[in-house]
Amino acid sequence: MTGGASDLYEPLNQYKAIARNIGIVDGPFEYLTTAGMKLPLPFTTRMTVVRLANSELVLHSPIAFDAALAQSLQAIGTVRHLVSPNQFHYAHIGEWSRAFPDAIAWASPHARQRARSRGIDVLFHRDLGLEPPEEWRGQIDQTAVPGGIFGEIVFFHKDSKTLILADTIINIELDKMTQPWRFAVRLTGMYYPRGQIFFGMRLPLLLQKRKTRAAAQKVLSWQPERIVLSHGRWVEANATATLQRLFGWAL
Ligand SMILES: [Fe+2]
Repeated sequence: MTGGASDLYEPLNQYKAIARNIGIVDGPFEYLTTAGMKLPLPFTTRMTVVRLANSELVLHSPIAFDAALAQSLQAIGTVRHLVSPNQFHYAHIGEWSRAFPDAIAWASPHARQRARSRGIDVLFHRDLGLEPPEEWRGQIDQTAVPGGIFGEIVFFHKDSKTLILADTIINIELDKMTQPWRFAVRLTGMYYPRGQIFFGMRLPLLLQKRKTRAAAQKVLSWQPERIVLSHGRWVEANATATLQRLFGWAL
């Protein structure tokens, strides 16, 4: 079902700089194991790598561990922070932790319970909150976007003016999908070029208007120029216009 290799965001498993001290790594199709069956999901994921001033690397939403990728990252800095921004993007943190035992695994709210309940082998060391921890304060800011179980801690890399998201905004390119997924994604509106807030977050956002407003105000106050996201095409320019379109109602 994966079609030709050109359907993905080649090159895969390679660090691609998008600005100074920040880059992305596009991964292959993800798999979901249900009732012992390994099923391909209809999308790929992307991780973001930030290099801090002390040369430590933050891996946001790590993709599946790959030895060659790990080696190439070590040439850039020290793999130190493994960040799960929401309850869904943590599955590969355990693999990276085993390869980099000195790395700190950061849990988003409720990620620990979710991993435990699903028998995922991951040990979190620290918890993410509304404020950036000392380790990256001043270089990366963060806040919480409410969304029920889909709630996400979102990040802003100050130097490059990059908003770093996982699922909050989805911007799938329909021509990279096969049917029936293409049809299903079209129904949700979460496709390029006018990506959308992940549909699972929309009702919780409406129901938590006060928290949503606070999050929207904070994200817009950062004045991001670009938005990296995990699924679909990332937003290379005019990020503020995209955010106004998607979150303006909450201000
Ligand atoms: Fe996701």
